[in-house]
Amino acid sequence: MVKKPRPLVELVATGRYLPERILTNQDLERMVDTSDEWIRERTGIRERRIAGPDEGAAFMGAEAARRAMAKAGVEPGEVDILVVSTATPDRWLPSTACDIQALIGASNAMAFDISAACPGWLFGLSVAEGYIAAGRGEIALVVATEKMSAIIDWEDRATCVLFGDGAGAGVLRRTSGDRGILSSHHKSDGTLANLLYRPAGGALVPMTHEVLDRKDHFVKMAGREVFKNAVRSMAEGADLALSRAGLTGADIDLLVPHQANLRIIDATAKYAGIPQEKVYVNVDRYGNMSSASIPVALDEALERKVVGPGSLVLAVAFGAGFTWSGMTLRL
Ligand code: ACO
Repeated sequence: MVKKPRPLVELVATGRYLPERILTNQDLERMVDTSDEWIRERTGIRERRIAGPDEGAAFMGAEAARRAMAKAGVEPGEVDILVVSTATPDRWLPSTACDIQALIGASNAMAFDISAACPGWLFGLSVAEGYIAAGRGEIALVVATEKMSAIIDWEDRATCVLFGDGAGAGVLRRTSGDRGILSSHHKSDGTLANLLYRPAGGALVPMTHEVLDRKDHFVKMAGREVFKNAVRSMAEGADLALSRAGLTGADIDLLVPHQANLRIIDATAKYAGIPQEKVYVNVDRYGNMSSASIPVALDEALERKVVGPGSLVLAVAFGAGFTWSGMTLRL
């Protein structure tokens, strides 16, 4: 019998920002050799949001952060640690976290980015949890913000139909109560990095005319291999997060999975023994927003009162690296 863990931090509130522009599958039919039917059957996606030229990772992340802080009743100056997950920083230097810090006025925070692809928001929650648990601060802001449209080859039908833009955020606070993060499992396997990656554009192979011509600055993905690993790893994330909290799928009020592909979501829910009506799905409306997917889904679920204070949530994610996570939370 696993001893029920006591949470160290509570998720006080969440927020989200989604660009207004919608790109439908029908729009994509006019751009590449694809069909609405293929996209819906293979992925579950119908449309996705595309950020405008002024909507960068920092802008979207700051909007999501402001909304989360307003709901939490937290002033920017109270934030001790600001963690930002992004695979699409506005620029290499400084971090997107520092740009968000300046935009929202979180002047007392330590601000930095983490790079963990799709599970990045869950990685960020655990990093902030550890910081607070170590007694270094009281309040954390964890933001995930992704402008995936900027790193996608819009002529590659195998990838361009999958992704969308958006941002989500959560405010964490030290707690002595029974609501908050109950358990987590995070893992990475760098040996499989080249199954989902951007070959160039970093410091090793900087941007050149040749890189641009070869389109090596765009995301490359071995879809079928990624799919198989995603199903396996999300099952592991669900398994270990549940068992570490002394829970089973039957205890969970809502599964909030990473929104990459409806077939991966269904396989994860089935494995964890969670019925479809307890699975939050918005991949149909937003596509894969990488690390922003989970906080956006959680924020929507809270707003729609699918869950509320006291609900038990299981979040699971998988992404480039490979990286994967499972986490249980009592809201
Ligand atoms: N429209 C029409 N046909 C297409 C398209 C498209 N958009 N894309 C690929 N095809 C074709 C292929 O060319 C192929 O044709 P062929 O058989 O003649 O060669 C056929 O469809 C099948 O292609 P597959 O790639 O094998 O299709 P699959 O069923 O595997 O679905 C998909 C592809 C949706 C990408 C799937 O593999 C997948 O979801 N993978 C996981 C993605 C994921 O989870 N990513 C998460 C991490 S993302 C991150 O970390 C940023």
